Amino acid sequence: MNSSILILPGSVRLGSYNRKLASEAMRLLAMTDAVISRVDLADYPLPIYDGDVETESGVPQNAQLLAQRIAAQDGLLIVSPEYNASVPPLLKNAIDWASRVRKVDERPVQPFKGLVVGLASASPGSFGGMRGLEAIRIVLRALGAEVMTQQCIVPRAADGFDENGRLTDDVARTSLESLCERLLDTARSLTRHG
Ligand SMILES: Cc1cc2nc3c(=O)[nH]c(=O)nc-3n(C[C@H](O)[C@H](O)[C@H](O)COP(=O)(O)O)c2cc1C
Repeated sequence: MNSSILILPGSVRLGSYNRKLASEAMRLLAMTDAVISRVDLADYPLPIYDGDVETESGVPQNAQLLAQRIAAQDGLLIVSPEYNASVPPLLKNAIDWASRVRKVDERPVQPFKGLVVGLASASPGSFGGMRGLEAIRIVLRALGAEVMTQQCIVPRAADGFDENGRLTDDVARTSLESLCERLLDTARSLTRHG
C-alpha cells in the first residue's frame, strides 16, 4: 500500500509564508507514489482548550475529526511559523485538543503515537523559525511521535518565494526536497498501517 503523508500548515493567514512552503512540499511530494493530502486548520475551528469545556461537553467533534485524520497517516509534515520563539497558539491548541481524543468509533486512538513527523518553517526573520520547531519537537515527542532530526527552515521568507510561489533560494529548495524524501522513506519503513 502506498504511504500517506498529511501536510499541516501552522498558519491560516492569507499570504502566509508557511502555507506557501507547504504548497511547495505538496508539489514535491505529489511527484512521488505517496498519497498526499493537506489540512487547513481553518476547517477545524476549536475553542481554546479548557478542562471545564472538555468535562461539560467532551472533546469537540472537530478535534475528533482532526485526530482521526492524523491517526490514518503514515507521516505528517508540519510547516509552521514560530511565535515568540515557540509554537503558535493555533497549532498548539489543535495538537492539545487532538491529544485528548482517546477513541474514535469506540476504537482506541493515539493520533501521534509512532507517527513519523517532519518539520519545516518559514519566517521573515533570520532564524527561519528554527526555535519554534524545537518547541514543536518537544510537544510531539511527548506524544510519542517519531520526530525527524532533519528539518527545513526558510529565513527571510519575504524574499523567499517568486510570483508563482516557488522557493527562490537553492539551499532552501534542496533542504525541502531532502526533507520530503527522507520523510517519505521513513514513513514507508515505519508504516503504522498494514
Ligand atoms: C505574536 C507573534 C510573534 C512572533 N514571533 C516571531 C518569532 O519569535 N520569530 C520569528 O521569526 N517571527 C516571529 N513572528 C513573525 C512571524 O514569523 C510572521 O508573522 C510570519 O509571517 C508568520 O507566518 P505566516 O507568514 O506563515 O503566517 C511573530 C509574529 C507574531 C504575530
